[in-house]
Amino acid sequence: MGRLLTRDEIRGLVQRHGGEVIGHRHMEIERRCYQHGSVTTFAHSIRVACLSVWLADRLHLWRRVDLPSLIRAALLHDYFLYDWHDDDNGTHRLHGFTHGRAALVNAQRDFRLNRVERNSILHHMFPLTPVPPRYIEGYLVCMADKISATRETLSMSRFNKPELPR
Ligand SMILES: [Fe+2]
Ligand SMILES: [Fe+2]
Repeated sequence: MGRLLTRDEIRGLVQRHGGEVIGHRHMEIERRCYQHGSVTTFAHSIRVACLSVWLADRLHLWRRVDLPSLIRAALLHDYFLYDWHDDDNGTHRLHGFTHGRAALVNAQRDFRLNRVERNSILHHMFPLTPVPPRYIEGYLVCMADKISATRETLSMSRFNKPELPR
């Protein structure tokens, strides 16, 4: 590709290659669960997919990246399908360490995944979990996730509560 992609082009690619994932009925669960701040897991996953494509474009990685696998892995990286803020007797306490595998188990139940997609989902929490991704697509998802999570957690919209009277 001779020029850089626009935002709309990136969104179009995510819709096209992510259509099967985005349209799955279990994605409804992600729309009801909050990820960071006031951002749902669904919105977070779309952002991570767009940002992964943006990074691949800006880093000129097109010849080394399988675009459909990158987008699908990004959309499914947090497909754990529960709200990790729920108390649930402490079962979600280890969420950061365990949800890569939970996402992979769910994703394999609902979709036919290739090895790049499987590995990228499973290892997206590196370096919190010790095994790094094996493919460049996995590194892109991992980076995009860290950037998105930081921005969502620090987002000013969280502080838009009414001011207390003095
Ligand atoms: Fe995650
Ligand atoms: Fe994430």
